[in-house]
Amino acid sequence: MTALAERPAMDPSHSIDVEKIRRDFPVLNEKIRDKKLAYFDNGATTQKPLTVIYAVQRFYTAENANIHRGVHFLSQQATFAYERARGRIGQFLNARDNSEIVFVRGTTEAINLVAHSYGRPNVGEGDEIIISHIEHHSNIVPWQMLCEEKGAKLKVVPINEAGEFLFDEYEKLLSERTKIVAVTHASNALGTILPIKEITALAHKHGAVTVVDGAQGVPHLPVDMQELDCDFYAFSGHKLFGPTGVGVLYGKKQLLEAMPPWEGGGSMIQRVSFEGTTYADPPTRFEAGTPNIAGGIGLEAAIDYVNSVGREAIAAYEIELHDYAVEALGEVPGLRLIGTAREKVAVLSFVLGDIHPHDIGTILDTEGVAVRAGHHCAQPTMQFYQVPATVRASLAFYNTRGEIDTLVKALHKVNEVFQ
Ligand code: ALA
Repeated sequence: MTALAERPAMDPSHSIDVEKIRRDFPVLNEKIRDKKLAYFDNGATTQKPLTVIYAVQRFYTAENANIHRGVHFLSQQATFAYERARGRIGQFLNARDNSEIVFVRGTTEAINLVAHSYGRPNVGEGDEIIISHIEHHSNIVPWQMLCEEKGAKLKVVPINEAGEFLFDEYEKLLSERTKIVAVTHASNALGTILPIKEITALAHKHGAVTVVDGAQGVPHLPVDMQELDCDFYAFSGHKLFGPTGVGVLYGKKQLLEAMPPWEGGGSMIQRVSFEGTTYADPPTRFEAGTPNIAGGIGLEAAIDYVNSVGREAIAAYEIELHDYAVEALGEVPGLRLIGTAREKVAVLSFVLGDIHPHDIGTILDTEGVAVRAGHHCAQPTMQFYQVPATVRASLAFYNTRGEIDTLVKALHKVNEVFQ
């Protein structure tokens, strides 16, 4: 059985006005080292539109108060805004219920929460957890820690040379011992999209739950929880044009309801006495302490912005830009793309001869081109390709063909320097 992830179909009616969009992102108009900035480090963090910046600024300027604990006007208003943001995120993900949306610091915290609160009670000695070879460290290490604690085994689905998830191998790894399948929606290092719907359907047949690292999924793809049917889905606000320090864990209601809290403190309780404590219902049970209120409100503004551009339009534009970039990079002597999956988000990882990626990144920087050079917190992926690191240009819908041309020109310069 082969299962390919779905790449959104190109629809010419989905088009975006990139120059207009760029005016909404002040940083994009900055000069870096006296050069026009070409920002290709969106996999690490995205830039923020003015609506997000204003939403955060407005909160601190005129609306700041703590939530869920005040009778005064500002507190009630802040509570309303924060809960409205939760609702907007629920709609964005097509969750069934707002209680399925847990605010966290980011993807890493979300995955750790699941490993702790779902994993500890449900994984025992001899059980198995399946991940893929192209996971970010944050979707490897929490599961390794859980396996170590419980005497469980971590199984890894291999990839092919293109960086594609080998579905047949996945099928072979599944058994009644599999308790959790934790996979990325889209690889941060290669861009490969994984077939989450099919992975989940098969996991469910074996009684396992799926945990999806959506950090690089939501910025690029329309994402629908009811369609994918995954059990948990995690993403970070700052990779979706929102603030840092806020993220989301989606979890199916019946699963969250059965899970114990993972951090104790204020808010997450129903009643506390020295004899014992009872806990609040989800999502509050998982939100101890004062959260990143401005972050949540800023994330709502980011989602509104993305919706106003259109998720299909974003996906279609990025596919076109990605394909343009692949062709343009192909003209650079010695350049080898790492990760050439048929179904990819707009991430271009590459090496250039034997020039160290850090040197390439440094020279590109002198031309105003911002990329990430390194192992991208995905060392096993680098080991597979037998490279210590790659240069990664990760695109967003505000990037242009002109910027790709600047990147290619700068890479020719790198080649000249190292001739
Ligand atoms: N996970 C982020 C990246 O891929 C930081 O760059």
